[in-house]
Amino acid sequence: MRTQVAIIGGGPSGLLLSQLLHGAGIASVVLERQTKDYVLGRIRAGVLEQGMAGLMRKAGAGARMEAEGFVHEGTQIASGPEMFRVDFAALTGTPVLVYGQTEVTRDLYAAREAAGGEIVYRVEDVVIDGADTQAPGVSYTVDGARQRLACDFIAGCDGFHGVSRPTIPASVRREYEKVYPFGWLGILSETPPVDHELIYSNSERGFALCSMRNAQLSRYYIQCSLTDRPDDWTDAAFWDELRRRIPEETADQLITGPSIEKSIAPLRSFVTEPMRWGRLFLCGDAAHIVPPTGAKGLNTAASDIHYLFEGLREHYLDGSDEGIDRYSERALLRVWKAEHFSWWMTNLLHRLPDQTAFDLRMQQAEIAFLRDNLSAQKVMAENYVGLPY
Ligand code: APR
Ligand code: PHB
Repeated sequence: MRTQVAIIGGGPSGLLLSQLLHGAGIASVVLERQTKDYVLGRIRAGVLEQGMAGLMRKAGAGARMEAEGFVHEGTQIASGPEMFRVDFAALTGTPVLVYGQTEVTRDLYAAREAAGGEIVYRVEDVVIDGADTQAPGVSYTVDGARQRLACDFIAGCDGFHGVSRPTIPASVRREYEKVYPFGWLGILSETPPVDHELIYSNSERGFALCSMRNAQLSRYYIQCSLTDRPDDWTDAAFWDELRRRIPEETADQLITGPSIEKSIAPLRSFVTEPMRWGRLFLCGDAAHIVPPTGAKGLNTAASDIHYLFEGLREHYLDGSDEGIDRYSERALLRVWKAEHFSWWMTNLLHRLPDQTAFDLRMQQAEIAFLRDNLSAQKVMAENYVGLPY
């Protein structure tokens, strides 16, 4: 078998790249370890930067996003009993779109299938060969038969636990990591959201986030211990703790219901450099991880895909390799800004176990400065809605 671009991973990164390449007449094959239903069963964040929304439109997969996504022109920040709003639209002229990653992935699968895109599911023992040569390939086993996909380029869109990043020799890779000493306990409930906008809350009991998927599907998170397990928390205990971490007048509006999903996610910052080795390019979670506080995971994967798609388009259609040669440099420049913003939001809004009384005063002063200073709010808003590609 042969294609132009072999894409390892059928998550949002791999599917978006494949669909964009299709639109430019460039052939690709997506190799996915799981089934489509398994991929669609993952619960992930739900805030799209305009850049990501634009790529969905460019890929011809944005219709449902336009119809069902919620335009959010600001967000609420709560600190103890008080709450203030950061007005993205007024400060940057740009809103964000609230639309679940699961729906983004569903729309991308639908677009690939409508275009006759080739997606191979349930691949096993994926091995990359020749990434540092002019004739790379990807071998894998499917339905018990070993296959090799010869290609011009390989996009490693296989997430944090994939095979692409480790294919780059350790002597070439530089890795940067920060693991946070807490997790996020999240639930989905078929209840109306407590507010029409997201609420990020720093309370003396810890962080909480009130989010949503649609008018009848809410998503809530509370900071929890790394030793917690989802089963340690009854729904009642979750709702009680959430109420204690948001302002009273908001808590009084909270409509609770049975959780239809409950899980705990650890928080980590991670970047690997470079994001290219020969004809292998890392994209999305394969190259970097952010704590979800800034809603930058999917959106930073999107900018990687933008840079790689443009580079591959230039290679095949314009005969120029400048885009692929500068991919890692360009992608990382934006990745590190997203890492910084996600780290900043996480430290601003969470209670750290080893936080001293002085540290707490510094955190409270920074929140007060954000509340009182439009320049500080503009900096946050520009990062939140998405820095330019
Ligand atoms: N072979 C084939 N597929 C693989 C392999 C492998 N060896 N390893 C992993 N995969 C698949 C996974 O099953 C998954 O479907 O690669 C896909 C990677 O998808 P994601 O982990 O969602 O990563 P990405 O597409 O970059 O999307 C980034 O997902 O994790 C969130 O917060 C993150 O929102 C961000 C987004
Ligand atoms: C979510 O809705 O899952 C969500 C929203 C914003 C974040 C993180 C998660 O910063």
